[in-house]
Amino acid sequence: MDRSAPSPRELLAVALGVARDAAATAYRMRVEGVSVAATKSTVTDVVTAADRAVERQVLDALKQLRPDDAVLGEEYGIRDTGPVAPGGVRWIVDPIDGTVNYLYGLPYSAVSLAAEVDGVVVAGVVRNVSTGEEWTATVGGGAWRDGVRLRCSGETDLGQALVGTGFGYDAGRRTHQAQVVAGLIAHVRDIRRLGAAALDLCLVAEGRLDAYFEKGLAAWDLAAGGLVAAEAGVRVAGLAGGPPGPDLVVAAPPALFGPLHDRLAELDAAGGP
Ligand code: IPD
Ligand code: CA
Ligand code: CA
Repeated sequence: MDRSAPSPRELLAVALGVARDAAATAYRMRVEGVSVAATKSTVTDVVTAADRAVERQVLDALKQLRPDDAVLGEEYGIRDTGPVAPGGVRWIVDPIDGTVNYLYGLPYSAVSLAAEVDGVVVAGVVRNVSTGEEWTATVGGGAWRDGVRLRCSGETDLGQALVGTGFGYDAGRRTHQAQVVAGLIAHVRDIRRLGAAALDLCLVAEGRLDAYFEKGLAAWDLAAGGLVAAEAGVRVAGLAGGPPGPDLVVAAPPALFGPLHDRLAELDAAGGP
C-alpha cells in the first residue's frame, strides 16, 4: 500500500530528538569508562558496550515514535518490518561513528542518523558526542550547523586542498589505501585522517576540510553526512559518474571534484581488497 511520507522537516525533527538523547547516552557512558566488548571484521574493528547500548536506544525510540518504519543499523542490522513500501521510511543509524576515537577519549566521534524515503536520504543529523556540535540537513533545505547555514570551500586548486580520508580495518585494504595516499599527498596541501567518516563529510560541508574520499564506507557512515555535504554544495559521488558507495566516496566542491576524482582513478583508489 502506498503511504504518503512525512516531510523531510518532520523526519528531521524526529531524528534530532533521537540523536540528541543517543549522544547523551554515549557521552555518559564514555565518562563512566569504556572498554572493548568484542571485535568484528578484524581485531582492530572494535565494538564497545556503548555502540550497542546507543543503537538499542535509537531502535527503541524509533519504534515508539515511528513503529512502521524500517531501520538499518550498524550493530543490529535490519529491523525487519517487511519490505519498505513506496513512501515508507527507512532509518539508517551509526550509533557511534569513530569508535576508535571514542575508545581512546579523542573528541571526534558522532551519532549519525538519517531518514531515507524511496531509497533517497531526505533528512539527517550528525552530532559530535564530545563537543555537542550538530550538523543537520534536509533534501532541498540546505545544510546547517547549530543554526548556521553551511557552504563548502571555494578552493579551486587541488594543490592547495586539505583532503580528509580514512582507512578500513582490514590490513590488506589499509596497505592499498596507504599507497593511494602516498600517490596523492604530494599533489595536495595535506592529508587528514581524523577517524569518523560522518564528521569528515560534515567538515567538508563547511570548508574545514576542502575534500574527502574513502573506499569501504557503509550506508551508515555515509547517509547523514553525505546529505549534509551535498546540501552545502559538495559533489558526493563515486568513480566515473557512479553513485557514492562501498567502492569509493569522493566528496569535493565542484571545482575540485574533477581533478581529485581523476587523480584517485589513476591511483586505483577503488581497487585493492
Ligand atoms: C569508521 C570511521 C572511520 C572510517 C572507517 C569507518 P566506525 O566507522 O568512520 O573514520 O575510516 O571506514 O568504518 O567503525 O568508527 O563506526
Ligand atoms: Ca562508522
Ligand atoms: Ca560505528
